[in-house]
Amino acid sequence: MLQVFVTENYEDMSVKAAEEIAKQLIEKPNSVLGLATGSTPLGLYEKLIQQKLDFQAVKTFNLDEYVGLAPDHEQSYSYYMWHHFFSKINIEKSNVNIPPGIFTDEQAVTEDYENRIHEAGGIDIQVLGIGHNGHIGFNEPNSSLNACTHIVQLAQQTIQANARFFSSMEEVPKRAITMGMGSILKARKIILLASGEEKAEAINKTLNGNIDTSFPASFLQLHPNVTLIVDKAAAEVPVTPRNLSNRL
Ligand code: GLP
Repeated sequence: MLQVFVTENYEDMSVKAAEEIAKQLIEKPNSVLGLATGSTPLGLYEKLIQQKLDFQAVKTFNLDEYVGLAPDHEQSYSYYMWHHFFSKINIEKSNVNIPPGIFTDEQAVTEDYENRIHEAGGIDIQVLGIGHNGHIGFNEPNSSLNACTHIVQLAQQTIQANARFFSSMEEVPKRAITMGMGSILKARKIILLASGEEKAEAINKTLNGNIDTSFPASFLQLHPNVTLIVDKAAAEVPVTPRNLSNRL
């Protein structure tokens, strides 16, 4: 079931999300958290750092990583996570799991990630952002979706959106390793964060669209415990010629 919690702004969205994580860690100090990157969860990580929560026994699994980027590359998700969050909390390095961007055996690396999630007892709370095209992690719109961790060809729209972080188009990664929709939907609870009017259409489709591989976030409708924490701007149904005629 999808629940929606609408906040006034980005700040309140981050506070509310941090409250949910804090509640989880108090109930279960050795929780397994699924974590996301992108600009949206930065406020959440800031709030969690400020609260000085105890992460000593917590295990984390990140959703995805760019293929070809080493952990010390400034645009890698590994760098992002250590820079913005892990280096500022008391987490054990051995409890941090991020899919590797550099590997030789694709099958071994993806199977190993799935096994590690399973051995940790599964994910208690999975934090998600959302791409404009409805991608979750790096599960891009497609004619079919993969259930488990896999290597994916990034959509042109995603490559273009990421280009601003790289000095040339050639450097922008074209592939990524990502948890699959099945790995994500196995989490016991999911929190999806979105902020700003540019995400409004994606949020509307997540909630009201058909469940379709052309919009991966729509699969969240099948999960029993999903909370969307979105600010007012992202909750506003965008006016498009189609829904405008419905309103008239
Ligand atoms: C990337 C990440 C996603 C993230 C999305 C949205 O594609 N792989 O996990 O949700 O960006 O990013 P932002 O929060 O910056 O809009």
